[in-house]
This record gives sequence, structure tokens and C-alpha cells, in this order.
Amino acid sequence: MKQTIIFKKESLNDAAAVLSKGGIVAFPTETVYGLGAVATDKDAVTKVFDAKQRPSFDPLIVHVCDREMITPLISGEIPERALKLMDAFWPGPLTIILPKSDIVPDVVTSGLDTVALRLPNHPIAQELIRLTGHPIAAPSANLFSRTSPTSAAAVLDMLEGRIDGVVDEGECEIGIESTVITFCEPTPTLLRPGGISRVQLESIIGPITVLGSLEKKSSAPGRSLRHYAPPCPMYLDLPESEMNKSNAGQICFTADQAIEGFEHCIVLSPNGDPREAAHNLYSSLRTLGALNLTAIYAVTLPEEGVGAAVNDRLRRASVNGFEGMVQE
Ligand code: TXA
Ligand code: MG
Repeated sequence: MKQTIIFKKESLNDAAAVLSKGGIVAFPTETVYGLGAVATDKDAVTKVFDAKQRPSFDPLIVHVCDREMITPLISGEIPERALKLMDAFWPGPLTIILPKSDIVPDVVTSGLDTVALRLPNHPIAQELIRLTGHPIAAPSANLFSRTSPTSAAAVLDMLEGRIDGVVDEGECEIGIESTVITFCEPTPTLLRPGGISRVQLESIIGPITVLGSLEKKSSAPGRSLRHYAPPCPMYLDLPESEMNKSNAGQICFTADQAIEGFEHCIVLSPNGDPREAAHNLYSSLRTLGALNLTAIYAVTLPEEGVGAAVNDRLRRASVNGFEGMVQE
């Protein structure tokens, strides 16, 4: 087991030096913590897959600190509508998939001829990329299929001794991952709902195609897996009569949804604010997940704005049983 160094913003130069030498370092973004490696360094990127126990067929997002940095990574012109989304939402929680250039190694994109690109809206993430001087490939900094970390402590909980370092800069504001949209399909297609909502995207570029949470697609191989999962079965929107409350936990959106008889109940947003619910979702799953419960019962949010992204994560965390487990 190697020692994982904890960096602060004052020692960001040292974190960048570890990355430049082929190390892997977790860092905060406005969505969740990422586990970074220099994107053009095949060996470093392989270490990221190993540390996370992530299957090699699930491609990584490449993070940049400014728009110029994407030019060498893509092939062809950036489509007009992709440019409009960059103007509107970058830096921010939007990942855009475009045809890749040869500079991006196959290990990053799992052999696809496309690359996912994101300019995070977090000063530490941007500065770390700038200091490293290279685009940084970074999946969420969790063990594969577990919940994404929203604090350095959550990163260390899963990855201490498996990674070279983590930059500790507090909690992530948004709390769930970026929206992923691809421009490599006949129509722009939303692959993962996230911090930017469908309505926000459509207000800029008009109608887009949207895939369902558990729908499979060969050009998006990471989508259909059991994901974000606590270590016990989770059930969504069950009637009370079908719940077994003994040693079980409950996750509600608002306080009035709480059902009596649960020893452990977490309310995601007392005021009914979906953004607050998103911010609290993963820490709630982690808290209940650590209690050795027999089940967690959760309710979905109204399917609007970031509520759609919270519901997507809840649905994927609730893929229980043989089919879900075998894909881990
Ligand atoms: O907010 C986020 O996006 C965070 C922070 C760290 O930036 N990152 C993140 O990465 O959530 P990850 O690896 O956990 O999720 C990336 C998703 C996966 O579902 C992956 O399959 C998809 O993006 N993806 C990456 N490259 C792709 C590509 N070329 N084509 C289709 N899907 C792709
Ligand atoms: Mg992830």
C-alpha cells in the first residue's frame, strides 16, 4: 500500500508535479471529486482504472482549464450547437462528446473514436490543470459502482493507499456529476442528466434526444451499469405496505414524506429545493451505507431541473439483484 499525500491549495504545485510525473491525484470540482491523470500518459491513465477497479470499457472524461486546450484533442470542426453550449455553460457541469484526435490514447476513451470534454467551474481544478500543463483525464474518485465522493474524506475512505494524493478543498457545491451530451450521434443526445438540465440545454440549441436512465447504447458503454450504489439493496417509491422497516433506512426529498417506524431517516431538502437535494444525495447514501442496513427505501423527486439527475442516480443505485451485481 502506498502513502496517499493530502495536498492543500497552498501545495497545489506539488500535486501538479505528482501528476506530471505519471502519478494519480484526486481533486475537487464543482460536481464531485475526480481522480486525475495526465490524459496523454497511457500508463498513468491505466493506474486510474486499476485504482478504481473500473472496467476498461468505461471511458473517462478529459478535463481542460480553457477552451484552447481542447483543440489538439478533437478532430474536425466543433459543431455550431456544441460551441453554443460551451458559450452558455462552460466553465460548468457540462461534458461534451466530440470526435477525438490521435493524441488522445485509446485507454482514455475505451477504444471509442470520441472523447468526452469538460471545463470544470472550480478554481482549484482549473489551477491544477494549468500547473500540470496538460489535459487531465478524470473519472469520479470512487471505487467502481460506488457513490461519487463529494469530500476529500469520502475519497480517502475508498481510495486511501491506492492513489498518490488528494487535494483537499472542502465539499463540492453541486454534489452530483456533470450532464453528458454527445454530438457524435445523428442528433445531439443527452447520455447522463446532471448539473445542467435538459430545459437549459434545449433553451440554447433546441430539441435534443434523451436516453432513459437504464437504456443501453453501444456508443456509450458505461451507461447501463449498476452505479452509485450503497452496499445494501435500495428500493424506490415503494408503497409502505411493501417496506420491511426492520434495520432499514429511508431517504426522503421533503420532511412530510417521512414514514414512521424507520430508525434512520434522511431528508434531502427540508425546503424542497432539488439543488439542495442533489448536494446532499451522495453523503446521505454514504451515511446510510455505513450502517449495515438490510435495505434503503427512497423516493424520487419531481422530474424537473436537477431533480431529473437526482432521480437518474437513485434509479441506478436501485438496480438490485443478480443482473446489476454481475456487471460490477
Ligand atoms: O462531474 C463529472 O462529470 C465528474 C467530475 C470529476 O468531472 N466526472 C465523472 O466521470 O463523473 P465518470 O467517469 O464517473 O463518468 C463519466 C461518464 C461515464 O458514464 C462514461 O461512460 C461517459 O461519461 N463517457 C466518457 N467518455 C465517453 C465517450 N467518449 N462516449 C460516451 N460516453 C462517455
Ligand atoms: Mg463515476
